[in-house]
Amino acid sequence: MPEQNHPTVAVTGATGALGSRIAAKLAERGASQLLVARDPSRLPELTGAEARGPAHYDDKPAMREALRGASTLVLISSHPTGKRLEEHAAAIEAGRDVGIDRVLYVSLIGSDVIATYRNARDHWLTEQFLAGSGLRHTVFRSGLYASTPAALADDELVVRGPGGSGRVAFVTHEDIAAAVTAVALDEGNTEHDGAVLDVTGPEALTLQEAVSRIAESTGKPYRYEDESLEEAFKRRWQLGISGAQIEAWISWFQAIARDEISTVTDVVPRLTGSPATPMQDMGWWPEPNTAW
Ligand SMILES: NC(=O)c1ccc[n+]([C@@H]2O[C@H](COP(=O)([O-])OP(=O)(O)OC[C@H]3O[C@@H](n4cnc5c(N)ncnc54)[C@H](OP(=O)(O)O)[C@@H]3O)[C@@H](O)[C@H]2O)c1
Repeated sequence: MPEQNHPTVAVTGATGALGSRIAAKLAERGASQLLVARDPSRLPELTGAEARGPAHYDDKPAMREALRGASTLVLISSHPTGKRLEEHAAAIEAGRDVGIDRVLYVSLIGSDVIATYRNARDHWLTEQFLAGSGLRHTVFRSGLYASTPAALADDELVVRGPGGSGRVAFVTHEDIAAAVTAVALDEGNTEHDGAVLDVTGPEALTLQEAVSRIAESTGKPYRYEDESLEEAFKRRWQLGISGAQIEAWISWFQAIARDEISTVTDVVPRLTGSPATPMQDMGWWPEPNTAW
């Protein structure tokens, strides 16, 4: 991709899995960036990057200080706390107060106010806030992470849930980061202003197929067992899971079962110039029992 009109990019969530990859890719491309964190001591040290913070999204004065000097803000969504819209809105307003004129927001596939997947609902609200902010903006609706099914496995490497035969185009963190980085670097290009981009993997897989890919890649006996909704709820409840956590877990599977997030797009190859990574080629897998 051509490197033109280099901005100073502020990257939030840079202590996390996605933000750190975006920051690393921006550094590889020689970008000037501000890395913003709640705990700046945990930020990676990268050429051309300045550590900023501590700044929590809903602490506007701290966010103003952290974002001062940047022209583009890459906003990684916060953890679902029930206040995500308010946190994102505060971060965007703080940026606008100090001269940010473009926001790249990492949203979620299937984002909708009535999305089946609970965690996709407040992303839609943030997208609406952004659309009315008066700022240049691009929304990257990230597909479901390719890492999640492995993290959902139990100690016997079994992934259980009510996903049925629905499909989903799992996408790697690397590919999402590459797509966001390409647009972040090209500040003078208005082609993606106002765009909502579904960032997906190369093929839509059932959970059975996805878990088979993990088994193939790791050489370990991962397997998927489908459950009815009733079985799924009862099992999770008996594990002591309730409230927003059980709703998020069940609705993740239901969104897949209903084929709401099975779309496959060309966003990754179009923005990065490279094909999207097949799930089995991701190159790393999280430990079992590390999701939710
Ligand atoms: N597409 C998917 O399948 C999927 C799956 C899981 C999550 N997500 C969403 O995608 C986001 C990024 O994913 P990830 O894998 O990078 O997650 P991650 O490794 O947990 O990183 C999240 C980052 O956001 C920061 N953060 C969270 N809440 C914040 C707040 N209120 N104020 C300031 N910073 C905050 C965290 O800071 P600390 O280091 O201080 O905690 C961390 O740097 C997640 O936060 C979540 O909303 C998407």
